[in-house]
Parts: sequence; C-alpha cells; structure tokens
Amino acid sequence: MHIERGNPQDGDAPARPRIGRRALLSAGAVLAAGAGAATATAFGRDPAAPPAAPAAAVPHHGARQSGLAYRQLPATRLLALDLPADASRDTLRGLLAGIDKVLAAASAGALADPRLSGTAPVSSLAAVGTALAARLKLDLPAELADLPAFPGDRLDPARSGGDLILQVSAEQPWTVGVLTEHLLTAARSAGAAVRWSQAGFLPPVPDGETPRNLFGFKDGTANPDAADPGLWHADGTILVYRRIRMDTAAFTALPTGGQELAMGRRLTTGAPLTGTAERDDPDIYAKHPDGSYIIPATSHVRLSSPRLDGGARMLRRGYSYDDGPDDRGLLFCAFMRDPALFTRVQNRLAEKDALTPFLTHNGSAVAWVLPGSRPDRPLGATL
Ligand code: HEM
Repeated sequence: MHIERGNPQDGDAPARPRIGRRALLSAGAVLAAGAGAATATAFGRDPAAPPAAPAAAVPHHGARQSGLAYRQLPATRLLALDLPADASRDTLRGLLAGIDKVLAAASAGALADPRLSGTAPVSSLAAVGTALAARLKLDLPAELADLPAFPGDRLDPARSGGDLILQVSAEQPWTVGVLTEHLLTAARSAGAAVRWSQAGFLPPVPDGETPRNLFGFKDGTANPDAADPGLWHADGTILVYRRIRMDTAAFTALPTGGQELAMGRRLTTGAPLTGTAERDDPDIYAKHPDGSYIIPATSHVRLSSPRLDGGARMLRRGYSYDDGPDDRGLLFCAFMRDPALFTRVQNRLAEKDALTPFLTHNGSAVAWVLPGSRPDRPLGATL
C-alpha cells in the first residue's frame, strides 16, 4: 500500500537553523542565516557546538495546507485576486491547479529559477473569498459568511475582499517576491487580476519565543494548537483577515504601566497581570481588594478572552506591516471554524478595548482555506 507522507503539524516543523540569541540580534547575521551561506563563526556560535542544521524544505502536499501546518515563516505576502465576472467552477479549479503546481515545485526546490536556489523553506495558503463562494454557489460550510460592519471601521474596498486569497511565506522577502511573480504569471494566464497585495513580516526571534508586534508586546502567546479540532471543518478552515493601522508612536509614548493595563499583560515578559510567566493562564476574574479587576475591564486580554465565548478559540497568525512611517500596523490573520467568533470578540473590542483609540481597521476579508493538496488531487479539486 502506498502511504503518502504529507506535511506534519507544527511540532514536526523543520527547525530553524540553530542560531545563537546574540547573533540573531544582529541584522547582518539574520540576512546571512536566510541565505544559508554564512559560517558558524559568522553567527558567533560556540565553535564546539554541533553544526547548524540546513534549512529544511516544507513539503507542499498534505491533508492541510503548509501555511497552517507549519510554524510561521517570518516574511509573508498576501495576494488577493479577482476572477472574471463570468468565471465558472472550471475556471476556478483550473486556476487553483495552476497555482498548486507552482507551489509544489517551489517547495520541492524544483522551480527553474536561479533566484530561488537555496531559499527553502516556503509555505503557502490558498483561500476562496466569500463573494466568489456565493457567486459560484460552492458547497462550503454554512459558517463562511461576510463580517458585519463594526463601529469605527474605515474599510478601504481596494484593500478588502477578493475572490481568491493567497499567502506565501518564507525566511526572506526575496523568496516571497520571486514566488509571487511565478504565482501571478499562473493566475493571470487563467484570467485573474490582482485586487490587493500586502507584505508583512515578523521580527527575528530565537526558536520557540513569541514574536512581538509593533506595540512591543509578545503576540500569539495564548494561541490554541494548530491541530486543535475546534478550528477545522475536516481539513479546511476559515480565514478572517483585518489590516489594522496602529498608532505606534502614541501608544509606546504611554508609561509602561499604562500600556500594560491596556493590554492586560506585562510588556517585557508577556505574563498576564495575574501571573508571573508568559504562559500563565490569565485569570480574568481575579480582583484587587477594592473590587476592581486585576486584568482591567477595558484591557485587550480580558475582552478577547475565550472565557467570554464559552471557550471558543481562534488561531492568530498575524504579521506586522510597514507601508511607510504613517502606515504601520498588524495584519491580523486568524483561523476559526466560524467567523461569528471574530464578530463577537471584535464587537467587544470596538466598544471598550483600551487599544481601540490607537487602531484603525482599514482592510478586511473572509475566505475559505482549502484543504491541502496531493499529487493526484490539486488544490480546489474537491470544490
Ligand atoms: C492591532 C491590533 C491588535 C493588537 C496589537 C493585539 C495584540 C494582542 C496581544 C499582545 C495579545 C496578548 C498575547 C497573546 O495571547 O497573543 C492578544 C491576545 C488576543 N487577541 Fe489581540 N491584538 C489586536 C487585535 C485583535 C483583534 C482584532 C482580535 C479579534 C477580534 C484579537 C483577538 C485576540 C485574542 C482572541 C487574544 C487571546 C486572548 C486569550 O486567549 O487570552 N486581537 N492580542
């Protein structure tokens, strides 16, 4: 019997090359690490330490798409495509099959492009937007639906929606850019046009540490495991994307104590205000002797707590973006069974969150993240 070795879940993800924490802080070392060309000495590693593991490729095929089955790679691009108004299911399947071919070749290091040599790993996601799902009457979970308007939304249609949303991630923006070029060639040959495109990044962090967002707080601590069955419809799930501009100068000018009360966590350690370590569970019901909550009623961690949603969780895999000095923020990308969860949380945040005065939501999309592909069953074959 042939057993296909699909992509493993997060725990089995190829390790980053082993790089010392001190070396990671140097931008030069980070660039060199991605190129895979530097020597151990250039990283400042102990010469007696075991040799660095080479950057492993991420297999493209598997039950779930590689962009969710693996750890977050630090450079990303989201690409929203529109299909011609008269596109059929066959057009969509053909387009997805073309994209699948490019992605499978890229992850196997088999795209004939010298610019991609030695740039593994890459990971990717393809998701069908709500509008196209409705237009083609695709048989998808009933939970797939647009979001309502939220108080304070400043959504730009040119940064929102899209028939198809692709996400490509790699260690370096270089790789993401070249791969995007190949994907666009495939997409355009099937009649698709770019609706919007958005680059994002994570700061360099030592293995296993939570990256910080542009407010300086660790972001992603309280995430469920990517394999949590509560996130999935079989091997598909739903992406909620929001482009959120952050007034970083105003927020980071607040005294540290004020920032921590707004977030409900400590700035340096990421620990909840009711604990001492990052992974301590926030106790949103703990009170001071005067009866006020230790994690304040208007704090982000309290208002987004799963305890207020019967324990339902979303998997947040956000990225920062920087489109110039006055347009920096968070690409909020969260995966869940039902976007109604996002709606409940965002309604609470929009009304009360102490972060809200520093945020502007200006892009939005909801899309069906397809199950992964196999060599004999390209992305979208089951649509
Ligand atoms: C720019 C805007 C945002 C920033 C800077 C931000 C930042 C953070 C930070 C620092 C944490 C605590 C660490 C962690 O557990 O990851 C957190 C937790 C969380 N955030 Fe946000 N967030 C933003 C927007 C949102 C939005 C729009 C939602 C959903 C509507 C959301 C939902 C959550 C959830 C569900 C948690 C985990 C709560 C828990 O389980 O304790 N966040 N966020």
